[in-house]
Formats: sequence, structure tokens, C-alpha cells
Amino acid sequence: MLSVIVGGMFGDEGKGKIVSYVALKDNINVAARAGVGTNAGHTVVYNSQTFKLRQVPSAFLNKNAKLYIGSGVLVDPDVFLREVETLNIKGRVWVDANCTVIEEQHKNRDRSDAHLSKVIGTTGTGCGPAMEDRVKRVAKTCKDLSILKDYIEDVALRVNEALDRGENALIEGTQGTFLSLYHGTYPFVTSKDTSASSACADVGVGPKRVDEVIVVFKSYITRVGGGPLEGELPLEKVKELNLLEFGTVTGRPRRVALFNKELAKRSVMLNSATQVAITKLDWLYKGAYKVREYEKLPIEAKKFIEDIEAEIGVPVTIIGTGEDVYDVIDMRSSKMRR
Ligand code: IMP
Ligand code: MG
Repeated sequence: MLSVIVGGMFGDEGKGKIVSYVALKDNINVAARAGVGTNAGHTVVYNSQTFKLRQVPSAFLNKNAKLYIGSGVLVDPDVFLREVETLNIKGRVWVDANCTVIEEQHKNRDRSDAHLSKVIGTTGTGCGPAMEDRVKRVAKTCKDLSILKDYIEDVALRVNEALDRGENALIEGTQGTFLSLYHGTYPFVTSKDTSASSACADVGVGPKRVDEVIVVFKSYITRVGGGPLEGELPLEKVKELNLLEFGTVTGRPRRVALFNKELAKRSVMLNSATQVAITKLDWLYKGAYKVREYEKLPIEAKKFIEDIEAEIGVPVTIIGTGEDVYDVIDMRSSKMRR
């Protein structure tokens, strides 16, 4: 069984929480990180501890899960080794031999290039310039670095073998659908495609192996950096609604708009979502905080979910109602009978 989880908007939808919940709940054996690289920041809160992950899979909370980074992902060796140490996961985390290495020069180029840093508003983590070098075919790969020698694997082979054995696997994307180089708001996008199809390609799994595609939305929309955001709220209004957030990687305040059902519908189409997760429902409806049964949600919150379902045409199966991994309403068993 293979599930792919990707962001449906502009990143920061709360993928970290949904991925870690699914990894624990579904007894995931193998979790592979897809997506761009260390520009991502996934937050996981478990037993009052907060983890901010930029490189390793958010599924690490499941101690039985083997953790992989797919060959399409950019690896910053410093960030990777620091996370491995902090999370104490050495021995069950591997990078693909062909992952591109983010070097110091890539970070310098990202930060000193006026177009990237000022106009696009990149995260400054070197991802774009490292992708550029990969395309030019001059980038280093992880197998070239001796400090990574204990971590090198053939990730595509390992994940496909696990699926052959009937194990449960999860692929975790990064950023969001409208930051995609091809399907997003170009040129205000990241340096590669971020849809579910690319997440599979990043790891080396073909489209026929995928069972579920879970697209994650937040109950409102945020965007950091430049680019259009339809219905963007003025900062005063954002503060009044208590929806002000700051970027995990950059610390920048996030721009905010209310949920947009038309964009959500397009995202469902681009990813061929089979189900949708909606996080932070409690930020819109205080009475939803830490609720774990759908029936116990405030009536307006239920209406909000049902209106979205009616528009997008796929079921909302997982709803986030609080910061802890287990603060969720999980309706997959009743809504997804296959
Ligand atoms: P880059 O990915 O660092 O090149 O940045 C390109 C654009 O994508 C900028 O607008 C960034 O703010 C945005 N971006 C990249 N990664 C993330 C993320 O993980 N969350 C939200 N926005 C992101
Ligand atoms: Mg983030």
C-alpha cells in the first residue's frame, strides 16, 4: 500500500503533522521524502515536543519506519547530519546515492542574487542554484561525499522492494502545488515541480503503484515570498483574526488569505487527489480545538468542511484540530472503503 502526501496550496499547509500522524496510525514500514530540499520546513508536535524538520522524513516518529530521501531531493549535508543527530535516527535513515548536494556556494548564490532573493523571495537555502547546477550537470551527488558514506542507498530499489513485499509506504512531498515550477504562479515558484507525480518520480516509484494521494490544505491560505495571492487580507485583518504565522525556515511573516475552493479544486485535479486533509480547523473555529470526532465539531465548522467537499468532489478524510500529532479527526475508515 502506497500513499503520497503533498501540499495543496503554497506550502506550510501542515504536511508534517499529517505525515507523522499517518506514519504512526498506518504502521508505515517505509517513508520516503520527495520534494525540493532544505527550503522546506515541516513542523511536528508530539508529546509537547516540537520538531522542525527540513531534510529528513516527518515519519521519523514511527520508530519502526525506515526513512529514505529520494534521488530527486537536494541534500544539504550539514542540515541532514544535524537532524540525524538531534532525532537520533542513525541506522534507519538513508539518502539516495544520486541526490544532489547543496554546497555553501549555492547558498551564497541564492542570497546574493537580487532576482532570487528580492523579487522571488526565495528561502536562501541554496535550492534554486543547486538545481541549476544539476541541470548543467556539474553538481556533486551524495555518493561523492565521504561524510555521507554510512547513509548511501539505492532508494528507488528499497522502496519498490518494500512495496513488492506488501509493506506500507509513504511518500512525503514538500512545498505546495502552486509553488510548482510548471503548475504554480511562475515566476514566483520554487525550482521544480511539486505535484504528486513529481513526488513519485523524486523517489523512483511509477504512477501505477500509488494507492492513495492525500492533498493537504490548511483551513486558510498562507504564502511567503513574492507572487500573487488572491483575496490577500491586509495585515490588520490578519492580526484581528489571529491568523498571523511566521515561516519555519526563514522566520518571515506569512501572507494570509481565506480558503479558496476554486484553487483547491484545481489542486485536487493537478494531483489526482483521492482524499484531502484539512489542518488547523481550530484556528477558524475555536470550538474545534482538539476535537477528535466529527460529530463534536461546531455546526459552522462542519458546514465549512461539507462546502469544500461539495466543490472539490473528493472526501475530506483527515481534519487537524490541534498541534499534537493525534489532534485529528480521521474518517478514512468510513469514507474510503475500497
Ligand atoms: P525557493 O524554493 O527557496 O527557491 O523559494 C521560491 C519560493 O518558494 C519563495 O516564494 C519561497 O518563499 C517559497 N517556498 C519555498 N519553500 C517553501 C516552503 O517550504 N514553504 C513555503 N514557501 C516556500
Ligand atoms: Mg513549512
